[in-house]
Amino acid sequence: MVLTPRDDVLGEVRNYFERERRSGINRRTEAWRSLSENFIRTADGSYTLESDSPGEAMHTRSGAITESFEKFVRPSIPHDAEEIRVLDLCSGLGYNTAALLEFTSAIEVTVDMVEVSPETLSAALIVPSPVPSHELVKAAYEDRLMDMGIVGIRAYPPPPPQVTLRVHCEDARETLQKLEADCYDAIFLDAFSPGVSPELYTVEFLSQIARVIKPDGVLATYTSAAPLRSALIEAGFHVGAGPVFGRKSAGTLASKDPSKLKEPLEWMDERMVALSDAGIPYRDPLLSSDGETIIERRRAERRLARGVTRISSAVKTPIYLGVSVEGDRIGRRVRRNLERMGISDPAGEEALYIICPQMDECVCGCGEERLATSRERILSMRRRLLEVVSFRGMIKENPV
Ligand SMILES: C[S@@+](CC[C@H](N)C(=O)[O-])C[C@H]1O[C@@H](n2cnc3c(N)ncnc32)[C@H](O)[C@@H]1O
Repeated sequence: MVLTPRDDVLGEVRNYFERERRSGINRRTEAWRSLSENFIRTADGSYTLESDSPGEAMHTRSGAITESFEKFVRPSIPHDAEEIRVLDLCSGLGYNTAALLEFTSAIEVTVDMVEVSPETLSAALIVPSPVPSHELVKAAYEDRLMDMGIVGIRAYPPPPPQVTLRVHCEDARETLQKLEADCYDAIFLDAFSPGVSPELYTVEFLSQIARVIKPDGVLATYTSAAPLRSALIEAGFHVGAGPVFGRKSAGTLASKDPSKLKEPLEWMDERMVALSDAGIPYRDPLLSSDGETIIERRRAERRLARGVTRISSAVKTPIYLGVSVEGDRIGRRVRRNLERMGISDPAGEEALYIICPQMDECVCGCGEERLATSRERILSMRRRLLEVVSFRGMIKENPV
């Protein structure tokens, strides 16, 4: 039976568990046989589902469980800790926590897993386990689903006492507001892309993450989206590039402790975050707006800022600052976008002043040394751009 889209598959999963509850008989192997063709088999043999956006899957097709190890677990989990506490946001089929349990040698592991969809938790009970520790995740999911009255049969033994998996089945914004401050060594943020789940990329949501992470904790996420990175900066994080796996661009790592980040952002990414309207973050002041409202709010902020306090992101204009652009099509667009900001020469004094924090040696006469971290360079370039446009009289006072 081939079903699309994802909601239909999850509807079938829900129907299966209703039947299981009524009959008291575990037929999960048969359920998997009948539903498996609706799942996507990824390159390492682990399965995923389509996301809510057509063509987008919940995991990379290059290997769902491998992505968990490479993009989430390896770059964020401390090797030597005896005890670790992790927050797995958007835990879905549970692969990130399963990979964590395979990887860590800590004696005590506590994970708070947060997933809004009970059907997705239920689907995890049917998919084949890609690593043995996935069975511990299944046990925790089963427990939560039994409490919710969705599952009626226990098929997995409980995890050993040194592993505590707490499952929160609700919107992650609600969970975050209830969690204690300063307690997680690592946080996995594995939401759908910002266009699908903007509520999990806002400054306010990431500020909650900043509240609950330890001062040296590491946040890992697969996306390199500019609004995510700028929201992380507004929330007080240092940001760096994560490993590349299965997607064209690197993921993002963030920590309040810059020594935890090995790779800075690419210089072009720093510029786009700092200077262009693409770097305007999503906002959700009361942590309660729906996705469309959050997207529209950002669209309106971009419209107001583009060409006034932020350089247009079209043709990646900020990456041409400091370059004598040709009079070709791109060159003409770059010049036009900069002229709107009152910057007449892409390689002139003002342009060099704005990008100086990224340069090995001062290029503008300010005499300052290259700043050490992506966060500092981004904040400094943003401040300098605002100084330049304020000086031009394009904005009146103290713009944010
Ligand atoms: C990319 S998938 C996560 C994959 C997952 N980490 C795994 O190992 O299978 C994104 C997940 O986020 C969940 N989600 C979407 N919006 C959410 C929200 N507001 N709060 C919590 N979970 C959410 C979706 O139901 C989906 O399962």
